[in-house]
Amino acid sequence: MSQQVQGVIAPGKNEPVRVETIVIPDPGPGEAVVKIQACGVCHTDLHYKQGGINDEFPFLLGHEAAGVVESVGEGVTDVAPGDFVILNWRAVCGQCRACLRGRPWYCFDTHNAKQKMTLLDGTELSPALGIGAFAEKTLVASGQCTKVDPEVAPEVAGLLGCGVMAGIGAAINTGQVGRGDSVAVIGCGGVGDAAIAGARLAGAAKIIAVDIDDRKLETAKKMGATHTVNSRSTDPVEAIRALTDGNGADVVIEAVGRPETYEQAFYARDLAGTVVLVGVPTPDMKLELPLLDVFGRGGSLKSSWYGDCLPSRDFPMLVDLHQQGRLDLAAFVTETIGLGDIEQAFARMHDGDVLRSVVVF
Ligand code: APR
Ligand code: ZN
Ligand code: ZN
Repeated sequence: MSQQVQGVIAPGKNEPVRVETIVIPDPGPGEAVVKIQACGVCHTDLHYKQGGINDEFPFLLGHEAAGVVESVGEGVTDVAPGDFVILNWRAVCGQCRACLRGRPWYCFDTHNAKQKMTLLDGTELSPALGIGAFAEKTLVASGQCTKVDPEVAPEVAGLLGCGVMAGIGAAINTGQVGRGDSVAVIGCGGVGDAAIAGARLAGAAKIIAVDIDDRKLETAKKMGATHTVNSRSTDPVEAIRALTDGNGADVVIEAVGRPETYEQAFYARDLAGTVVLVGVPTPDMKLELPLLDVFGRGGSLKSSWYGDCLPSRDFPMLVDLHQQGRLDLAAFVTETIGLGDIEQAFARMHDGDVLRSVVVF
């Protein structure tokens, strides 16, 4: 027995997205059907639509979601119908080389549902990041469901499924920001702001926000930035050094994804400081650095993929911190919209005043 729901697909490269009827099979072994309550609009959904990820059109978009488990397939014991969950795109396999070496946040065999969701004519859909949550319901592997406190608002919880987790995780997991550290964040969109919130959570003493847009710097202050630098008018490396007694920051997080900002991050680090790349570069980008400057200042250059998160550990913890008033996840929700408004949300993505548009059901 399958069921039919409404969902948003990207039919072909650069074609407008549209609402379609989606056919969802009953969950098979290890699978779950989740009734979606909220799903954020992320840049990656736009990249799918533009053909920038792969060409397996049509895509069922949406991957930053929370909802309630409706039914589970054979052998599923980790979640049950009625559980409130955040969906994740890192359902670790436990068996790949990364998992076996104790680094499951690099797992490269993430579990997804084995069965396919389709259109009414039988066309198979590719769910974005193995999720596909711009839909009233979706089919996932049970390991993609992480149970959290059901009292949290769904539109807030869903954000932890991607962008906000990427930013907070870049600070607390990859950057290992410690109490009293100085942290600089270059690029204060949703991801950079989340990195700022993560740095505050970790007890950073100084949090320097860098952006080229003053409106972004205003928001960054609300997220916890103690200092702001507009890098259009001021050299950010000099400014970060000046704000850290001439030393540079203990942790510098790059949340733009460009060589010039990565280079700024590199030179803004303190001796033995950590540079974290969370912005996603394009394949053509290259970085050239004098080796002597790597050698002379020590430290480490890291990249952060999905905030090096473990959903089972990090999602419930961050929801609890939000519920206790120690982390303001609601500040990331700029607007709630309907399933039919996703094309407009894509268009608004680069407005200075939108952090996240969230589809609510
Ligand atoms: N220097 C400083 N800030 C910059 C620069 C620059 N040269 N160029 C752009 N920015 C700022 C923008 O003003 C904006 O505030 O970087 C921010 C980027 O934010 P968004 O476009 O909202 O992107 P976001 O969702 O935060 O993602 C940032 O992380 O996960 C990745 O794919 C994602 O590469 C992207 C990055
Ligand atoms: Zn694995
Ligand atoms: Zn995303």
